[in-house]
Amino acid sequence: MGTVAGAVRSAGPARVAYLPGMAGPDLHPSLAPLAFLLGDWEGEGEGDYPTIDAFTYRERLTFSHGGRPFLTYLQLTEGPGGDPMHTETGYLRVAGPASGGGHAVEMVLAQPTGVAEVLTGLAVDHDVHLHSTRVALTPTAKRVDTTARRLRLHGGRLVVDLSMAAVGEPLTHHLHSELVPVA
Ligand code: HEM
Repeated sequence: MGTVAGAVRSAGPARVAYLPGMAGPDLHPSLAPLAFLLGDWEGEGEGDYPTIDAFTYRERLTFSHGGRPFLTYLQLTEGPGGDPMHTETGYLRVAGPASGGGHAVEMVLAQPTGVAEVLTGLAVDHDVHLHSTRVALTPTAKRVDTTARRLRLHGGRLVVDLSMAAVGEPLTHHLHSELVPVA
C-alpha cells in the first residue's frame, strides 16, 4: 500500500481538533451532525457498472476542518497493483435542521475527470444521503447526469456507496467501500 497513504501524508495530517483537549480550533457547532466523519479513513472498495468490467480498489478518505462551518473532503484511490485511480475533493456543510428530522446538508465536489457535482441531502444519526442537483462536465468528460451518494457509520466502519446515471445508463450502483479509521 504505497501511493494512497503516501499522497495523503504529504498533504498533511487531518485536523480532528473537535476532540476535547486537542490543540486547534473547535469544531464549528453547526457541524455536530457530521462530526462522525472527521479524520482519516482507509479500506477496500469494489466497483462495477453495466458498461465496464468490475474492479477493486483501495481508498483513503479524509474529512478535516479548520473551525469554519464546513468540512474539507479529500479522497484518493489506488488499484490492486498500487497504481493511482480516481481522486476527488470538495466541501460538505450543514444547511440547517430538516423539517422531517435530521439536518439538511450540502456538498460540492470536483473530479479530475472533468466532473463537478453539487449535491444536497440529509444527515440523520450517522447516515448521510446526498443526491446531485447539478452535475457540470468539461467538454471531454464522460457523460454523468446524476449521482447519489451515501456515507454511513456501521459497526465502526465508514460505509461509502455511489450510484450514478451516466453514459446513457439509468441510476445504477458504481462504488461500494468499507473503511476504518487510520490509527
Ligand atoms: C472510488 C472512486 C472511483 C473509482 C475507483 C472508479 C473507477 C472506475 C473504473 C475502473 C472505470 C472503468 C474505466 C474507465 O472508464 O476509466 C470507471 C468508469 C467510469 N466512472 Fe468511475 N470510479 C470512481 C468514481 C467515480 C465517480 C465519483 C464518478 C462520477 C461521479 C465516476 C464515473 C465514471 C464514469 C462516467 C465511467 C465511464 C463508464 C463507461 O465509460 O462506460 N466514477 N470508473
